[in-house]
Amino acid sequence: MKVLVTGGLGFIGSNFCRYLLSKHLDYKLINIDKIGIGANPANFKDLENEKRYTFIKGDIRNPKLVNKIIKEVDAVVNIAAETHVDRSIIEPTTFIQNNTVGTFTILEAIRKHNKEAKLIQVSTDEVYGETTKDSFKENATLKPSNPYSASKAAADTFVMAYHKTYQLNATITRCTNNYGPYQFPEKLIPKTIIRALKNLPIPIYGSGKNIRDWIYVLDHCNAIELVLERGEPGEIYNISAGNEIPNIEIVEKILQILKKPKDLITFVEDRPGHDLRYSLDSSKIRSELGWKPKFSFEDALEATVNWYKNNEWWWKPLATKEALHLTPWKMRVTS
Ligand SMILES: NC(=O)c1ccc[n+]([C@@H]2O[C@H](COP(=O)([O-])OP(=O)(O)OC[C@H]3O[C@@H](n4cnc5c(N)ncnc54)[C@H](O)[C@@H]3O)[C@@H](O)[C@H]2O)c1
Repeated sequence: MKVLVTGGLGFIGSNFCRYLLSKHLDYKLINIDKIGIGANPANFKDLENEKRYTFIKGDIRNPKLVNKIIKEVDAVVNIAAETHVDRSIIEPTTFIQNNTVGTFTILEAIRKHNKEAKLIQVSTDEVYGETTKDSFKENATLKPSNPYSASKAAADTFVMAYHKTYQLNATITRCTNNYGPYQFPEKLIPKTIIRALKNLPIPIYGSGKNIRDWIYVLDHCNAIELVLERGEPGEIYNISAGNEIPNIEIVEKILQILKKPKDLITFVEDRPGHDLRYSLDSSKIRSELGWKPKFSFEDALEATVNWYKNNEWWWKPLATKEALHLTPWKMRVTS
């Protein structure tokens, strides 16, 4: 099978490419990435000589490029996106362009040039918005709260519309918050680890009681793999591991693993539109595709902390003032 992975230089994309290449010796991968924020060619240092892997620097919004590559592949796993909610608050246009128009460009390429190709749209739990009590099933109403999740929800609706109108073989996955190696330092877990290693104050937005459900990135990769192999066209699959934890507790756990004092924690103003709790019901992928998480939260979090501790060469060039900012949504827009 020949698979086009988009955004393969980012956190989930690079873990997914590495995972797929190691598990399927008959697979060939093409990775298109524009090398934007979140991308890091160093994520592939160990795969430089892998003959089954081709990297193309390019933008999924470029129809000429996407049309050409679509003709060559059996499947597309669309992972590329602008991903940081905080940044989406200061520059929403970038999010609509990359996440919504980018997905639309891929759909058009498949419709016009290779209707046999399977599309896996990698989406997020954030499209459902927050919930205080229940866990969302796949048919829940989409109620995104910020420009990032709105741009992803818009992309999802295009994917479903293209399935229905043009019978595209398209499937959507919606996963909860990922953690693991190669995650860009602007996100909660790597930022906390890096700031703690540098003995810098660790920001907690608002009360710190906002709850996210955490999943180790390789469990997410395994779920995408199963959907790629056996997912039904036109279906949506929620992916969650059942680790609902308030942000403050995540930060405290990391400080404990690193043996750093709790008084590094500093409470800062809350982010606008900050959803209180995300929660998914992932019984469908568990019962229909036999997926379940393999990694325990405690062990995988400790392994992740140790990975950052031992791989300063990887994060040091990325750990800029902007990436580690205390309140990124208040930064001035530079473009
Ligand atoms: N990180 C999470 O917790 C999480 C959870 C659920 C879903 N997701 C989804 O998974 C995907 C990947 O997330 P991530 O955390 O790895 O993000 P990331 O920011 O680490 O990586 C995104 C990658 O996409 C690339 N990209 C962006 N726009 C592009 C374009 N127009 N053309 C080509 N490449 C482009 C970037 O250069 C980058 O390498 C996103 O679609 C996100 O919505 C992420």
